[in-house]
Amino acid sequence: GSGGSGNAGSSGADDGKITMGFAQVGAESGWRTANTKSVQDEAAAAGVELKFSDAQQRQENQIKAIRSFIQQKVDVIAFSPVVETGWDTVLLEAQRADIPVILTDRAVDSEDTSLYKTFLGSDFVEEGRKAAEWLKENAGDATNVVELQGTTGAAPAIDRKEGFEKAIEGTNLKVVASQTGDFTRSGGKQVMEAFLKSVPDIDVVYAHNDDMGLGAIEAIKAAGKVPGKDIKIITVDAVKDGMTALAAGEINFIVECNPLLGKQLMELAKKVVAGEEVPTRVVTEETTFTSEQAKAALPERKY
Ligand code: AHR
Repeated sequence: GSGGSGNAGSSGADDGKITMGFAQVGAESGWRTANTKSVQDEAAAAGVELKFSDAQQRQENQIKAIRSFIQQKVDVIAFSPVVETGWDTVLLEAQRADIPVILTDRAVDSEDTSLYKTFLGSDFVEEGRKAAEWLKENAGDATNVVELQGTTGAAPAIDRKEGFEKAIEGTNLKVVASQTGDFTRSGGKQVMEAFLKSVPDIDVVYAHNDDMGLGAIEAIKAAGKVPGKDIKIITVDAVKDGMTALAAGEINFIVECNPLLGKQLMELAKKVVAGEEVPTRVVTEETTFTSEQAKAALPERKY
Protein backbone atom coordinates (compact mmCIF):
# COMPACT_ATOMS: atom_id res chain seq x y z
CA GLY A 1 0.00 0.00 0.00
CA SER A 2 0.82 3.63 -0.28
CA GLY A 3 1.50 4.08 3.40
CA GLY A 4 4.95 2.63 2.99
CA SER A 5 4.26 0.17 5.75
CA GLY A 6 4.75 -2.99 3.78
CA ASN A 7 5.00 -4.65 0.43
CA ALA A 8 3.45 -7.73 -1.14
CA GLY A 9 0.15 -8.49 0.48
CA SER A 10 0.27 -5.43 2.69
CA SER A 11 -3.40 -4.70 2.18
CA GLY A 12 -4.20 -5.19 5.82
CA ALA A 13 -1.74 -2.51 6.85
CA ASP A 14 -3.32 0.35 4.91
CA ASP A 15 -5.91 1.16 2.27
CA GLY A 16 -5.36 -2.00 0.25
CA LYS A 17 -4.26 -0.04 -2.80
CA ILE A 18 -1.34 -1.48 -4.74
CA THR A 19 1.63 0.83 -5.22
CA MET A 20 3.68 0.29 -8.38
CA GLY A 21 7.07 1.80 -9.10
CA PHE A 22 7.48 2.13 -12.86
CA ALA A 23 10.92 2.95 -14.31
CA GLN A 24 10.40 4.11 -17.88
CA VAL A 25 13.14 4.28 -20.54
CA GLY A 26 12.53 7.91 -21.46
CA ALA A 27 10.49 9.88 -23.98
CA GLU A 28 12.61 9.07 -27.03
CA SER A 29 9.84 8.20 -29.47
CA GLY A 30 6.15 8.47 -30.28
CA TRP A 31 5.87 4.84 -29.23
CA ARG A 32 7.29 5.60 -25.80
CA THR A 33 4.92 8.52 -25.26
CA ALA A 34 1.96 6.27 -26.08
CA ASN A 35 3.34 3.56 -23.79
CA THR A 36 3.73 5.98 -20.87
CA LYS A 37 0.21 7.29 -21.32
CA SER A 38 -1.17 3.75 -21.43
CA VAL A 39 0.59 2.82 -18.17
CA GLN A 40 -0.57 6.02 -16.43
CA ASP A 41 -4.18 5.81 -17.65
CA GLU A 42 -4.56 2.13 -16.85
CA ALA A 43 -2.99 2.51 -13.40
CA ALA A 44 -5.59 5.16 -12.61
CA ALA A 45 -8.38 2.98 -14.02
CA ALA A 46 -7.23 -0.04 -11.98
CA GLY A 47 -6.81 1.94 -8.76
CA VAL A 48 -3.07 1.33 -8.72
CA GLU A 49 -0.97 4.10 -7.21
CA LEU A 50 1.82 4.77 -9.68
CA LYS A 51 5.25 6.13 -8.89
CA PHE A 52 6.61 7.01 -12.31
CA SER A 53 10.22 7.71 -13.19
CA ASP A 54 11.71 8.72 -16.57
CA ALA A 55 15.33 7.54 -17.00
CA GLN A 56 16.09 9.72 -20.05
CA GLN A 57 17.56 6.69 -21.81
CA ARG A 58 20.23 6.13 -19.14
CA GLN A 59 20.64 2.85 -17.32
CA GLU A 60 22.15 4.45 -14.23
CA ASN A 61 19.02 6.59 -13.83
CA GLN A 62 16.85 3.50 -14.06
CA ILE A 63 18.92 1.69 -11.46
CA LYS A 64 18.59 4.70 -9.14
CA ALA A 65 14.83 4.76 -9.65
CA ILE A 66 14.52 1.05 -8.85
CA ARG A 67 16.59 1.49 -5.68
CA SER A 68 14.37 4.35 -4.62
CA PHE A 69 11.26 2.21 -5.23
CA ILE A 70 12.79 -0.48 -3.02
CA GLN A 71 13.42 2.08 -0.28
CA GLN A 72 9.86 3.31 -0.54
CA LYS A 73 8.66 -0.30 -0.16
CA VAL A 74 6.38 -0.27 -3.19
CA ASP A 75 4.30 -3.43 -3.70
CA VAL A 76 5.60 -4.15 -7.20
CA ILE A 77 8.22 -2.78 -9.55
CA ALA A 78 7.72 -2.69 -13.31
CA PHE A 79 10.31 -1.45 -15.75
CA SER A 80 11.33 -1.36 -19.36
CA PRO A 81 15.09 -1.92 -19.33
CA VAL A 82 16.94 0.61 -21.46
CA VAL A 83 19.59 -2.04 -22.29
CA GLU A 84 19.62 -5.82 -21.81
CA THR A 85 22.62 -6.35 -19.53
CA GLY A 86 23.74 -5.19 -16.10
CA TRP A 87 20.59 -5.69 -14.02
CA ASP A 88 21.40 -8.61 -11.74
CA THR A 89 22.61 -6.60 -8.74
CA VAL A 90 19.65 -4.28 -8.47
CA LEU A 91 17.15 -7.04 -9.24
CA LEU A 92 18.67 -9.12 -6.47
CA GLU A 93 18.16 -6.18 -4.12
CA ALA A 94 14.47 -6.12 -5.06
CA GLN A 95 14.21 -9.87 -4.56
CA ARG A 96 15.82 -9.63 -1.10
CA ALA A 97 13.32 -6.89 -0.20
CA ASP A 98 10.56 -9.26 -1.33
CA ILE A 99 9.32 -6.90 -4.02
CA PRO A 100 8.22 -8.65 -7.22
CA VAL A 101 9.46 -7.29 -10.55
CA ILE A 102 7.65 -7.29 -13.88
CA LEU A 103 9.56 -6.65 -17.10
CA THR A 104 7.52 -4.50 -19.46
CA ASP A 105 8.20 -4.08 -23.18
CA ARG A 106 11.89 -5.04 -23.05
CA ALA A 107 13.73 -8.06 -21.65
CA VAL A 108 16.90 -8.34 -19.59
CA ASP A 109 19.69 -10.70 -20.52
CA SER A 110 20.03 -12.45 -17.17
CA GLU A 111 20.78 -16.09 -16.41
CA ASP A 112 18.70 -15.95 -13.25
CA THR A 113 15.08 -15.85 -14.37
CA SER A 114 13.87 -15.90 -10.76
CA LEU A 115 14.80 -12.21 -10.62
CA TYR A 116 11.51 -11.28 -12.30
CA LYS A 117 8.01 -12.74 -12.30
CA THR A 118 7.07 -12.25 -15.89
CA PHE A 119 7.94 -10.42 -19.09
CA LEU A 120 5.12 -8.62 -20.93
CA GLY A 121 5.96 -7.33 -24.41
CA SER A 122 6.52 -7.92 -28.10
CA ASP A 123 8.53 -10.56 -29.89
CA PHE A 124 11.14 -8.25 -31.44
CA VAL A 125 12.87 -11.01 -33.44
CA GLU A 126 9.55 -11.75 -35.08
CA GLU A 127 9.12 -8.05 -35.90
CA GLY A 128 12.47 -8.04 -37.70
CA ARG A 129 11.50 -11.18 -39.57
CA LYS A 130 8.20 -9.65 -40.70
CA ALA A 131 10.03 -6.60 -42.05
CA ALA A 132 12.34 -8.86 -44.08
CA GLU A 133 9.52 -11.06 -45.36
CA TRP A 134 7.73 -8.05 -46.82
CA LEU A 135 10.94 -6.84 -48.42
CA LYS A 136 11.71 -10.24 -49.93
CA GLU A 137 8.36 -10.13 -51.71
CA ASN A 138 8.48 -6.47 -52.69
CA ALA A 139 12.17 -5.74 -53.30
CA GLY A 140 12.09 -5.78 -57.09
CA ASP A 141 15.67 -5.03 -58.18
CA ALA A 142 16.59 -3.63 -54.78
CA THR A 143 19.59 -5.20 -53.05
CA ASN A 144 21.28 -2.62 -50.81
CA VAL A 145 19.75 -2.05 -47.40
CA VAL A 146 20.93 0.49 -44.84
CA GLU A 147 19.82 -0.17 -41.28
CA LEU A 148 19.03 2.40 -38.61
CA GLN A 149 19.42 0.54 -35.35
CA GLY A 150 17.73 1.35 -32.09
CA THR A 151 19.63 2.10 -28.88
CA THR A 152 22.84 0.07 -28.69
CA GLY A 153 22.39 -2.87 -26.34
CA ALA A 154 18.58 -2.55 -26.16
CA ALA A 155 16.56 -5.72 -26.71
CA PRO A 156 14.53 -4.32 -29.63
CA ALA A 157 17.73 -3.19 -31.40
CA ILE A 158 19.47 -6.54 -30.94
CA ASP A 159 16.44 -8.64 -31.83
CA ARG A 160 15.10 -6.62 -34.75
CA LYS A 161 18.56 -6.75 -36.32
CA GLU A 162 18.83 -10.48 -35.79
CA GLY A 163 15.33 -11.34 -37.05
CA PHE A 164 15.84 -9.27 -40.21
CA GLU A 165 19.33 -10.56 -40.98
CA LYS A 166 18.36 -14.21 -40.57
CA ALA A 167 15.38 -13.82 -42.86
CA ILE A 168 17.35 -12.23 -45.73
CA GLU A 169 20.09 -14.87 -45.63
CA GLY A 170 20.53 -16.56 -49.00
CA THR A 171 18.77 -13.76 -50.93
CA ASN A 172 20.21 -10.90 -53.01
CA LEU A 173 19.44 -8.48 -50.20
CA LYS A 174 22.28 -7.30 -48.02
CA VAL A 175 22.73 -4.84 -45.18
CA VAL A 176 25.48 -2.59 -46.55
CA ALA A 177 25.60 -0.19 -43.59
CA SER A 178 24.14 -0.29 -40.09
CA GLN A 179 24.35 2.26 -37.29
CA THR A 180 22.43 3.34 -34.24
CA GLY A 181 20.07 6.30 -34.38
CA ASP A 182 19.09 5.74 -30.73
CA PHE A 183 15.37 5.38 -31.57
CA THR A 184 15.05 9.16 -32.07
CA ARG A 185 14.01 11.24 -35.05
CA SER A 186 17.12 13.43 -34.88
CA GLY A 187 19.32 10.33 -34.60
CA GLY A 188 17.71 8.77 -37.67
CA LYS A 189 18.14 11.97 -39.63
CA GLN A 190 21.81 12.36 -38.72
CA VAL A 191 22.77 8.77 -39.50
CA MET A 192 20.86 8.85 -42.78
CA GLU A 193 22.60 12.08 -43.82
CA ALA A 194 25.94 10.36 -43.25
CA PHE A 195 24.83 7.22 -45.13
CA LEU A 196 23.67 9.28 -48.11
CA LYS A 197 27.14 10.81 -48.33
CA SER A 198 29.18 7.64 -47.81
CA VAL A 199 27.14 4.65 -49.03
CA PRO A 200 26.64 4.28 -52.79
CA ASP A 201 23.35 2.97 -54.24
CA ILE A 202 21.03 2.82 -51.24
CA ASP A 203 17.85 1.00 -52.23
CA VAL A 204 16.17 0.43 -48.88
CA VAL A 205 16.14 1.89 -45.37
CA TYR A 206 15.24 -0.52 -42.58
CA ALA A 207 14.64 1.59 -39.47
CA HIS A 208 14.07 -0.08 -36.11
CA ASN A 209 11.33 2.45 -35.34
CA ASP A 210 9.04 4.98 -37.03
CA ASP A 211 10.79 8.00 -35.56
CA MET A 212 14.17 7.12 -37.07
CA GLY A 213 12.41 6.39 -40.37
CA LEU A 214 10.78 9.82 -40.23
CA GLY A 215 14.17 11.40 -39.57
CA ALA A 216 15.57 9.48 -42.56
CA ILE A 217 12.76 10.84 -44.74
CA GLU A 218 13.89 14.39 -43.96
CA ALA A 219 17.47 13.52 -44.89
CA ILE A 220 16.40 11.79 -48.12
CA LYS A 221 14.29 14.78 -49.18
CA ALA A 222 17.14 17.18 -48.37
CA ALA A 223 19.38 15.09 -50.64
CA GLY A 224 16.91 15.61 -53.50
CA LYS A 225 15.53 12.06 -53.50
CA VAL A 226 11.99 10.81 -53.12
CA PRO A 227 11.34 8.70 -50.00
CA GLY A 228 9.22 5.63 -50.70
CA LYS A 229 10.18 5.70 -54.40
CA ASP A 230 13.91 6.30 -54.94
CA ILE A 231 14.56 4.66 -51.60
CA LYS A 232 12.10 2.23 -50.01
CA ILE A 233 11.51 2.60 -46.29
CA ILE A 234 10.46 -0.04 -43.78
CA THR A 235 9.93 0.79 -40.10
CA VAL A 236 8.60 -0.73 -36.88
CA ASP A 237 5.94 0.66 -34.46
CA ALA A 238 2.96 2.06 -36.42
CA VAL A 239 2.43 5.22 -34.39
CA LYS A 240 0.29 7.96 -35.93
CA ASP A 241 3.13 9.93 -37.55
CA GLY A 242 4.55 6.76 -39.06
CA MET A 243 1.14 5.64 -40.30
CA THR A 244 0.54 9.08 -41.83
CA ALA A 245 3.82 8.84 -43.77
CA LEU A 246 2.91 5.29 -44.81
CA ALA A 247 -0.51 6.40 -46.05
CA ALA A 248 1.24 9.16 -48.03
CA GLY A 249 3.61 6.61 -49.62
CA GLU A 250 6.77 8.02 -48.01
CA ILE A 251 7.14 4.86 -45.90
CA ASN A 252 6.41 1.58 -47.73
CA PHE A 253 5.71 -0.87 -44.92
CA ILE A 254 5.37 -0.82 -41.12
CA VAL A 255 5.58 -3.71 -38.69
CA GLU A 256 3.40 -2.97 -35.69
CA CYS A 257 4.79 -2.87 -32.17
CA ASN A 258 1.99 -2.33 -29.67
CA PRO A 259 2.70 0.25 -26.93
CA LEU A 260 -0.64 -0.18 -25.16
CA LEU A 261 0.65 -2.50 -22.46
CA GLY A 262 -0.91 -0.70 -19.47
CA LYS A 263 -4.04 -2.78 -19.01
CA GLN A 264 -2.28 -6.14 -19.11
CA LEU A 265 0.45 -4.77 -16.87
CA MET A 266 -2.04 -3.77 -14.16
CA GLU A 267 -3.74 -7.17 -14.35
CA LEU A 268 -0.43 -8.98 -14.01
CA ALA A 269 0.64 -6.69 -11.17
CA LYS A 270 -2.50 -7.41 -9.15
CA LYS A 271 -2.00 -11.15 -9.54
CA VAL A 272 1.69 -11.03 -8.71
CA VAL A 273 1.06 -8.95 -5.58
CA ALA A 274 -1.68 -11.36 -4.53
CA GLY A 275 0.82 -14.19 -4.86
CA GLU A 276 -1.02 -15.80 -7.77
CA GLU A 277 0.78 -17.65 -10.55
CA VAL A 278 1.30 -15.74 -13.80
CA PRO A 279 2.76 -16.95 -17.11
CA THR A 280 6.48 -16.19 -17.28
CA ARG A 281 6.06 -14.67 -20.76
CA VAL A 282 3.14 -12.68 -22.18
CA VAL A 283 3.59 -11.83 -25.86
CA THR A 284 1.79 -8.84 -27.35
CA GLU A 285 -0.39 -9.40 -30.41
CA GLU A 286 0.65 -7.39 -33.45
CA THR A 287 0.05 -6.95 -37.14
CA THR A 288 1.68 -5.22 -40.12
CA PHE A 289 0.55 -2.37 -42.42
CA THR A 290 0.89 -1.59 -46.10
CA SER A 291 0.07 1.90 -47.38
CA GLU A 292 -3.53 0.92 -48.19
CA GLN A 293 -3.99 -0.67 -44.78
CA ALA A 294 -2.59 2.45 -43.11
CA LYS A 295 -5.11 4.64 -44.93
CA ALA A 296 -7.92 2.44 -43.66
CA ALA A 297 -6.60 2.22 -40.08
CA LEU A 298 -5.60 5.86 -39.56
CA PRO A 299 -9.00 7.37 -38.67
CA GLU A 300 -9.33 4.95 -35.74
CA ARG A 301 -5.70 5.04 -34.67
CA LYS A 302 -5.45 6.08 -31.01
CA TYR A 303 -1.78 7.02 -30.84
O1 AHR B 1 11.08 -1.07 -26.86
C1 AHR B 1 10.23 -0.65 -27.87
C2 AHR B 1 10.89 0.36 -28.74
O2 AHR B 1 11.35 1.45 -27.97
C3 AHR B 1 10.03 1.01 -29.79
O3 AHR B 1 9.94 0.29 -30.96
C4 AHR B 1 10.75 2.29 -29.99
O4 AHR B 1 10.05 3.23 -30.74
C5 AHR B 1 10.95 2.67 -28.59
O5 AHR B 1 11.77 3.71 -28.39
